[in-house]
Formats: sequence, C-alpha cells, structure tokens
Amino acid sequence: MNRAVESFLSTDPAAAAASAARVGVPRAHESAHLHVAGAAQYVDDIPEVAGTLHAALGLSPVAHGTLNAVDVAALRSQPGVVAVLTAADIPGVNDCGAIHHDEPILAAGQVMYLGQAVFAVIATDRESARRAAALAKKVLDITPLAPVLTAREAHARGQYVVQPMHMVRGDAQAAIAAAPHRLRDTFTLGGQEQFYLEGQISYAVPQEDGCLKVHCSTQHPSEMQHVVAHMLGKAKHHVQVECRRMGGGFGGKESQSSVFAGVAALAAFKLGRAVKLRPDRDDDFMVTGRRHPFEFSVDVGFDDEGRLLGVEVDMLTNAGWSADLSSAVMGRALCHFDNAYWLPNVAMHGYCARTNTQSNTAFRGFGGPQGAYAVEHIMDTVARRLGRDPLAVRRANFYGVDERNVTPYGQTVEGNVMAPLAAELEATSGYQARRAEIAAWNATSPVLKRGIALTPVKFGISFNVQHLNQAGALVHLYSDGSCLVNHGGTEMGQGLNTKVAQVVAQELGLSFERIRVTATDTFKVVNTSATAASTGSDLNGKAAQDAARQIRERLTAFAAQKHGCDAAEIRFANDQVHLGGERRMPLDDLLLEAYLARVQLWSDGFYATPGLSWDPKAMKGRPFYYYAFGAAVSEVVVDTLTGESKLLRTDLLHDVGKSLNPAIDLGQVEGGFVQGMGWLTMEELIWHPKTGALLTHAPSTYKIPTANDAPAVFNTRLFDNSNVADSIHRSKAVGEPPLLLGFSVWHAIRDAVSSVGQHRVDPPLRAPATAEAVLDAVDAVRAAIATPAAVAAAVEAVAQ
Ligand code: MTE
Ligand code: HPA
Ligand code: MOS
Repeated sequence: MNRAVESFLSTDPAAAAASAARVGVPRAHESAHLHVAGAAQYVDDIPEVAGTLHAALGLSPVAHGTLNAVDVAALRSQPGVVAVLTAADIPGVNDCGAIHHDEPILAAGQVMYLGQAVFAVIATDRESARRAAALAKKVLDITPLAPVLTAREAHARGQYVVQPMHMVRGDAQAAIAAAPHRLRDTFTLGGQEQFYLEGQISYAVPQEDGCLKVHCSTQHPSEMQHVVAHMLGKAKHHVQVECRRMGGGFGGKESQSSVFAGVAALAAFKLGRAVKLRPDRDDDFMVTGRRHPFEFSVDVGFDDEGRLLGVEVDMLTNAGWSADLSSAVMGRALCHFDNAYWLPNVAMHGYCARTNTQSNTAFRGFGGPQGAYAVEHIMDTVARRLGRDPLAVRRANFYGVDERNVTPYGQTVEGNVMAPLAAELEATSGYQARRAEIAAWNATSPVLKRGIALTPVKFGISFNVQHLNQAGALVHLYSDGSCLVNHGGTEMGQGLNTKVAQVVAQELGLSFERIRVTATDTFKVVNTSATAASTGSDLNGKAAQDAARQIRERLTAFAAQKHGCDAAEIRFANDQVHLGGERRMPLDDLLLEAYLARVQLWSDGFYATPGLSWDPKAMKGRPFYYYAFGAAVSEVVVDTLTGESKLLRTDLLHDVGKSLNPAIDLGQVEGGFVQGMGWLTMEELIWHPKTGALLTHAPSTYKIPTANDAPAVFNTRLFDNSNVADSIHRSKAVGEPPLLLGFSVWHAIRDAVSSVGQHRVDPPLRAPATAEAVLDAVDAVRAAIATPAAVAAAVEAVAQ
C-alpha cells in the first residue's frame, strides 16, 4: 500500500491534521460525509418552487420519417396536462449541435431516430406528463422513410456526419509489402452506455426581467447556457446555469444534457413557471447516445520479433444521426491507435457514419480507448501467429526514450516511463511465473481454462480542440479566515473540488476545513469548457492556484510593510503567517489588519495550457501537453462449456505523476479499470435490425459490472513519478486513462480461449466478450484445430 494511503487510513489525529492542508496527501472526497448520509444535494433534491410543473418528452416511434403533424389537441386534453410544446414553439434557433449545427432540440421536418424528442408535455405532475408523452405513437403523423441502421450501410452509401479523416506517416503499403510477415484482419468493438447513477435532469426557474435559472446535471454549464440563450433568442447574461454536482457524467453529460436543459428552459420561458424535466432511465437510454462502437479493418506487416513495420487501418464508427462530438472522438481515436507503440509507417482512415440511431457522444476516453484497442488486438494476434508471449511483442514495439519516440501525428513522446512501468508491474504481479503455472494448469484442465495478459496504456492529456484548454477561478478569502472557491469545472464524483480545495489550501497555508468549493455557475466563472478530457484538475487547479497566489502576494506585501519584515521570508502555513525568524502570527489576525487597511482579499485566476498546436488538415502537431502511462495484469478463468468467465486477479500500476490526492486517484484508477472491463466483457447493446429500436434500454437487459465483478485479488498502486510538464504540482490527469487498463481482462479471456487450440489459431473473440461471444470463439477455435488444413493455413500465414 502507498505510504500516503496508509497515513490516510491511520487513526492518528496528529498525522491527519498535519496532512490536512497539503496537496499530495490522501483526503476523503469533500462531499463524502454528505454522500454516505444521503445529504448531498443533486438537482432533484433542490426544494421545488411553488407551482413547479413537470415535463416529459414525446419520442419518435420510428427510426426515420417525415414529420407531418403532432396532434397537440389530443395531448392537451389529457389529465393534468398544462401545455404541449413542439419545434414551432421555439422562438430562437432550434439547435443544440455541439460542434456542427445539425441537431434540432425538438424534431422539425423529419424524425431521425427511434427515440428522438419530438414534443414535450408539461403537466402538473411527472406521472401525468409521462402518461401523455407515452401517447406519442397515437399523436404523431409520420410518413416512414427507409432508415440506415448500420455504420456499414452508411459507409457503403458514403453517408457521414463529418468528412473522412486521414492520418499518415511514411509509406504503410510499401512497408507492409516488404515485411517478412503479414496480417489482414477485421474486428468489431461495441459501444457503451454511460449509466451515470443520477440520470439526466434539468430544472428551469424563471427569474425577473426575462432571465432564467437552470439547475442542470451537466459537465458543461457554459454550453447549456449557450444552447438555452440561443434557443430563446436571448443574450447569455439572461441565462444562469448552475450545477453543484452530478451523480456521474462519464462524458454523457458533456453535450447531451442540452436536450433536457433546452426543453425545461423552453417550457419555463413559455409558461412563466418553474419546470423540471427528469426522464425515466429507459427514456434516457432511448434519447441519448453513448460510446462509439467501431469496426476495424487492418493490414499489417511485421518482422520476426513482432515489430509492426507498416500498418494500414480503417476505422469505421456509427456516429448516429448527428455529428455531436464525433469528429473530435474520431480525432482522438486516430491519435491513440499508436497507444504505447512506435509505428514507423502507418496510414489511418477514420469514417464517422451517419445512421438513424442515437447520436454517439463522449464517454470516458473519448475515442482513445477505441483507437488503442485496435493496436492491442493486432499485438495479440501477431504474438499468437509468431508463437511468442504477447508481452514480448508489445515490449518490442514500445516507444523509445531518445529515439523511436515520435507519434504518427508528429508529437515527441516526452517523459516516457512505459518500459520501467511495465517491467515493475511484470515483476510485482509475478507475471512470468504465473504464465508458466497457467500453462501447466490448462494442460490438465479440459473444461476450465485460465488466461493472463499484461496490457500497457499511454494516453494524451489535453482537449484535442485547442481553445478548450483554458479555465478560470475565483477565490474569496473572508475576513474571518474562511475561504470560498469557485471554478469553471464541474464535480461528477471524480473529486475535482477536493483537489482544487487542496491546491488553494496549499497556496494560502489554510487548513482544508476552511475552504468551501461552491456550485459551478455561469454567472460566476464564464466561458468555461466542459469538464472533460481528464483536464479538470489540470486546468481549474492551475486557475485556482493563480487566484490564490495573487491573494497571497498581496498579503505578503502588506505584512512586510506592516510588520517591518522581509517579504522573501514570509510563509503561510497551518493557518499561521511566518514573518521570518521565530516571528509568526495567526492568519486571522493578519486578515483583519489587511481588511481594515483595504487590501483586496479575493481574486480571479486564469490558466491556458501552453505549447499546444494542431493542424487539422495535415493532422499533425502537438495536441497533448503530456502523456499519462499505466499497465494492468489480469488473470481469468473461462468455462469452455458455458462461455462464462471470471476475473480472478488484477494488478494495476498507474502513473498520475505526483498525485494531488492518492486516495482519490486510486479510486479513479480502480473505477476506470472496472468500467473498461465492463465495456469489453459484459455491456452489450442490441438494436432491432429492422426497426432500429434499442432493445437493451434498462438494467434488466443491459448489464454493467457490480462489486461482485471486481476481482477477489485487486492490487492497485500508483507509479512513483513526476510530470515532465509543468502541470499543477507536477500531477497528471487520472480521469480517463485507467479505463484502458480494462483491456487486460479481454486479452486474458482471449488467452484462455486461445489455449483451447494450444495457441495455434487466432481466437476470433468479439468485444464485448460476453458468454455467447466466448462460446462462439471457443467453437471456432475447436473447429479450426479439428482440420489439419486449417492449422496448415495458419502456419502458412505466418511464414508468408
Ligand atoms: N469519475 C466519476 N466518479 N464520475 C464520472 O462521471 N467521469 C470521467 C472521469 N472520472 C467521471 C469520473 C470522465 S469521462 C472524465 S473526462 C473525467 O472524470 C472528468 O473529470 P476530471 O477532468 O476532473 O478528471
Ligand atoms: N475530450 C473530451 N471532450 C472533447 C475533447 C476531448 O479530447 N475534444 C473536444 N471535446
Ligand atoms: Mo470525459 S469522455 O472527456 O467527459
């Protein structure tokens, strides 16, 4: 266990007090006492204003069609119904597209997917609103059009939400042709539902003079403010969006909270009443999109060591009916196809297919996991073709430190700790010995098969849209020594507010208890970016530090003058001001003096990440401020008769630079890993192939991992490191990268399935590796080894 975490868990109050005010120490989440007591306020917990009305969305029952009419009168006559709103009621612009403007808030002219919001019913209570909205099928007059339901079909028609993207270095085809071995392969990767515990919700309350306040569970209050203002034809200063916290976002509330914010705000504006919109979980599934599923087609040339000499890859994704964030997601997928590996010759092509399904959006990793999954799939197959340990093949391809260290998009990989990190985990997890034990065990076990895998992660940190890498903060130091902090980031459980409070505590020498971080509010810090791309603490931590530093500098100058001491000697620590030598005074006394002397005790702060560049046409530049690294070893057992698999043990080693808060970081690493494992092993989305209806739209049909799915042996450690980039206290972002650690589980399952064929054939295992997928792969491997011709073909393929 990390020493820092040991002291956190210790009951010694002196140790706890000494650690309280610093960054780098493990502290409980700032709201933990409220979370566990059920006292943390979420949007639905806010006491309702008298006369609050409730909205429900009427959804399109068909995947594609011409919208002729909505029988508003029929809806209006339902019990409890106060109003019915359609696109025609929108006074301003009916659009909530995050990047491209192809996304009406309420359908107009056409319906584009089954589940699209077409109208809103506003009623005196939520049940009445939902009952009326459920009549959608009866009240909508739609002439059906033929839907396009798969990415492949859209691709064949050249139907995309954004132009195809290409990222090229060297001559991939020439390198493939000249390589000793060749692999051609196609494989698919499923999507994933964010499944935030708190669903989407917005509560809009009219204010004086045409203003509106919207309480919204969103990662992006400024975007919600923009959408609402734009929709109502108002200026942004009319619209206040507030979010104290979310019960999870995971990317699903980066852009797609806008339908809910928009409709609640529209109704509140039209009716002059407070309106709440809290969709049921099934509707949340039907309306919003999720992680982009991908299909890959790869052509690879490799040498005897398994080094990839040339790779050409097509990445096809189902973007859904609108562009949303898909261009940035695909950009990140292309920038993460390299994962931890140097690819001298590579040609990547990204296609974002437009289909008549939900619009896919941000989800932890934002395309990065999909891109990296592809190269890991290749590594595993190349290793099996060569009869080598996949870890050896991965290692042979690692980026170098001083050479072989430039990414396909031209950024040099600085601070590369991949090799030492992987070596450390290989040793501490006992990988080699366990691999040998597993081989021996499998030899005597005809039905149950074990597998093990070590997979690495490298993940680029920064928004891949440059201007988003900025943040602001306000720090208010009251004359009584208490401190109020507000910044542009949002709290979704990841511990951002705790980290920002620690940064301010450190800067001002305050004890943690003196600091309160308040709700994110578009009337306080303005023009903010989404809390996304794992940059929350990097950006807002730096902005808050900037604000706190200015206050400290003012106090320092004042104290030097007032108490006749050298400014360079003055220190703030433990709620005391050290004036040089033995002289010190309580901070509270100095604050009172400073207040009476009219010194400004509050400040704003700002931060913009330096040194970033990106040429979107050439797809070259320096999109990332730095990289985070990690590795995972997982061991599974697979039942080859039922296809069931169980994760037995996982060892994680993850690089968070100099941790701001090791307790929170360990939580993020473990949580990210489990979420990644769920994506690749059990979370399966199924749409009706003809109607385009999402059939897996509730926990009854969509299985996410629970505590029972965590491995019995679960060793998580933070890698001892410091950021080479000048990040906040040399820490590294931790929100998304650990999701990729989940790859180890899928590869361990593939290793177990591979043992069925004595590792002589590639197991065609799908992702997610559900029981059905595992059984299909086991059957395929058995069939392949049953025919000598198949084995000969596999051997031939390697020799080629
Ligand atoms: N952790 C919790 N508990 N809940 C969340 O919704 N979202 C993840 C990650 N960790 C999430 C989470 C995603 S998608 C991102 S981008 C980051 O947190 C955002 O927060 P950060 O930038 O402050 O790390
Ligand atoms: N991550 C999350 N959201 C984003 C990004 C990103 O890299 N780029 C633009 N929006
Ligand atoms: Mo996270 S997918 O960037 O919200």
